[in-house]
Amino acid sequence: MRLLPQPDNPLHLATITAIARARPVPDAQRLRQAIEVRHTDRRPPKQQPIPTDVMPLLQATAATHLSGLQPLDRDKVLELAAAITQAQADETADPATRRELDTWTGTDRHSGAGIPDANILTGPTSTTVPNRDFGHIGTLPVNDQHDDAATYAILYGYADDPRAWLRAGQALSDIWLATTAMNIALLPFSAAVEPPRTRELVNRLLIGIGYAQLAIRLAIPDPTQGDAPRTPRLPTTETIERVQP
Ligand SMILES: Cc1cc2nc3c(=O)[nH]c(=O)nc-3n(C[C@H](O)[C@H](O)[C@H](O)COP(=O)(O)O)c2cc1C
Repeated sequence: MRLLPQPDNPLHLATITAIARARPVPDAQRLRQAIEVRHTDRRPPKQQPIPTDVMPLLQATAATHLSGLQPLDRDKVLELAAAITQAQADETADPATRRELDTWTGTDRHSGAGIPDANILTGPTSTTVPNRDFGHIGTLPVNDQHDDAATYAILYGYADDPRAWLRAGQALSDIWLATTAMNIALLPFSAAVEPPRTRELVNRLLIGIGYAQLAIRLAIPDPTQGDAPRTPRLPTTETIERVQP
């Protein structure tokens, strides 16, 4: 994979070229199986902290992609919640953002892609950090449990350029599959890192160690709730068309 962006196309992130078959690394089969079951569950998790050895393991995984993972203490979780609340209020007030959200979660959604109502909660959670505001409620029942046993963390890069974004994406992918294999639920929170104003607030939580790419919640899934439904996937024969805003 060539990571260098093309100077004439700042949106180009990477070129992937298959050059030869290689022996799978020892964990590859386990991670491949995790791809089948990995999913996003927005419901409140179990009131039980993740094991203490998980964070160092995930930090080591992030480091292999030249990225970092910084857990947040209670005060910083409150600051993250405030930044997400602000970002979501700004997004909801912006008709263009609401339209964009509708193309992948709302009535305009392609039935084979995006987030169906079955994966969107029937109401807001009682958690400190608010769930994504999809502009409408869904059909996935939500209980009034809190998530104060969960761990919040910021996935960050050592630069804020396309190469660092790509590396953070690779780190997220590896971290997500590793947590899936350990039965730990990972919930991403991207609202606050999207607009520059709140992205700066999240950056400040890192006190200079890096540039925030994504906030994540790590928690033990609540087994009494059953599995969340899977989101649809487009067939691999369908290509993606990027629509200019
Ligand atoms: C970079 C990234 C950011 C995401 N941000 C959010 C978010 O802010 N809130 C949320 O509820 N889900 C978020 N998600 C989860 C996606 O909505 C989800 O992965 C996608 O709809 C596919 O569903 P699945 O994970 O269940 O397969 C994010 C996923 C990625 C990869």
